[in-house]
Amino acid sequence: PLGTTVDERGHLILGGCDAVELAREHGTPAYVVVVDDVRARARAFVQAFAARCDDFEVTFASKAFPCTAVYRLLAGEGIGCDVAGGGELALALRGGFEPARITLHGNAKSEDELRFAREAGVGTVVLDSLHDLERLERVVAADGRGPQTVLVRVTPDVRGETHAGISTGQADSKFGLGLAAAADAIARAQASPHLQLDGLHLHIGSQLLELAPFREAVRAIAGLGDFRTYNLGGGLGVAYTADQRPPSIEDYVEAKVSAVRELLGPGRRIVDEPGRALVANAGVTLYTVETIKQNVSTWVGVDGGMSDNLRPMLYGARYEAVLADRAAAEPQATVKLTGKHCESSDVIVDGAALPTPHVGDVVATPVTGAYGHAMANNYNGALRPPIVFVERGEATVVVRRETYEDLYARDC
Ligand code: LLP
Repeated sequence: PLGTTVDERGHLILGGCDAVELAREHGTPAYVVVVDDVRARARAFVQAFAARCDDFEVTFASKAFPCTAVYRLLAGEGIGCDVAGGGELALALRGGFEPARITLHGNAKSEDELRFAREAGVGTVVLDSLHDLERLERVVAADGRGPQTVLVRVTPDVRGETHAGISTGQADSKFGLGLAAAADAIARAQASPHLQLDGLHLHIGSQLLELAPFREAVRAIAGLGDFRTYNLGGGLGVAYTADQRPPSIEDYVEAKVSAVRELLGPGRRIVDEPGRALVANAGVTLYTVETIKQNVSTWVGVDGGMSDNLRPMLYGARYEAVLADRAAAEPQATVKLTGKHCESSDVIVDGAALPTPHVGDVVATPVTGAYGHAMANNYNGALRPPIVFVERGEATVVVRRETYEDLYARDC
C-alpha cells in the first residue's frame, strides 16, 4: 500500500504502524487497511475522469469490501456507491452514502429488496431481466413515490481475459440481457409510467488486465439507442504478484471515455464502478505461523486461510507473502503457505519465497483488501478477523474480531 516502508530493524511499516506491533496488539489473523491508499485511489479515479469528461460518476462497487467504515471512508470522498443487494444497501446507508447516489444491482433481486431500495430513495436500479423489470414496476406502482430511474444491463457478448468465475460479458452469462432481449426491455421501460430509463449498463468482468474489450463492449451496445447515461461497470485489475502488469487508472479511464466519445458521441454521462482497484492494494492480511512441516514441500501453517481469503481456492488466485519482521530480507526458502482449514486446497500462497520462517513469525499477504473480508466465512468455526485501519501511525479497530458467542448468536 501507499507509504509502506521497512524500518531499520527490517519491520514492515503500514500506514506508519509496525506490522509486528499490530499483530501483537490486535491478534492475528487481522485485516489491516491503509486508509490513505484507498483515498488516493478514489481521488485518482475522480481526477482521471474529471480530466477527460464533463459528466461522470465514480461509484464504489462495494461488494469488494462491504464494511461500514469503508463505506464511510468512500462516502467521505464524495463518490457514489453500487450495492449488490439489500445487505450492502443497508451498509451503504449506515456508512453515510446519499441514497440518490446509490445504484442497486442484482440478477435476482427480491421484492423486499426493491421495496427497501424505494423506501430508501435509491437513485438508480439496474434492470437485469424482464422479470426484474416487471417486479420493479409493480413495486413502484404500489408505493406511489413516482417513477424510478433505471438502467438496462446489457450482456454485450464480449469476453474479457480473466478467470471464468469472474467473466460476465459473454453471451451465456447469468447477468444482464442479450442485445435482442435488451432492446425489448428498453422499449418496455420507455413505455412504462413507473420507470424512467436513463441509459444502459454493462460489466464485462473483473480483474481485467487488458483494455481492448471495453471498446468492443461499447461498440456492441451502440446500436441500442441514444441515452444520457452509460454505466460501463468496473473490472480494472490489480497486481497481486510482481509479474502482473495491470493498466493504470488513467489508461483505464482513457479507454472507457474515448470509447464512449468515439463510438456513442459526445455529451454522454459515464458511470464507472471500480471495486477491486479502489480497495485491493490498501489491504494487508497478517497471520501468525503456527506450524512448519517438511515433506516433499515445506508447509508453513498459519492461523487463517480460506475463511479470510477464499480467492486462491475459488480462482487459483496467486499472492505473495512477506515476514513482518524481515520484510526486506533475501528469500531463503520456497514454501507452501497454508491455512488451518480441513481442506487440502486451503493454500494461501503456493510457492511463497520467504526468509527461513519460524513458528511465531508474523506473515503478511499484501493486496488482500478486495474480496477478502467480503467473502470471509466461518468454515471450521473460524472467527472472522478484525479490520484495523492504519493512518499516520495510528491504528483503529473498525470491525472487531468475532467471538465464539458470535457463532451461536443466531441460535433460536
Ligand atoms: N459492477 C458490477 C456490476 C459488478 O458485478 C462488479 C463485480 C463490479 C462492478 C466491480 O468489479 P471490479 O472493479 O471489482 O472488478 N469475488 C471475485 C470478484 C467478483 C466480482 C463481481 N462483480 C474475486 O474475488 O475476484
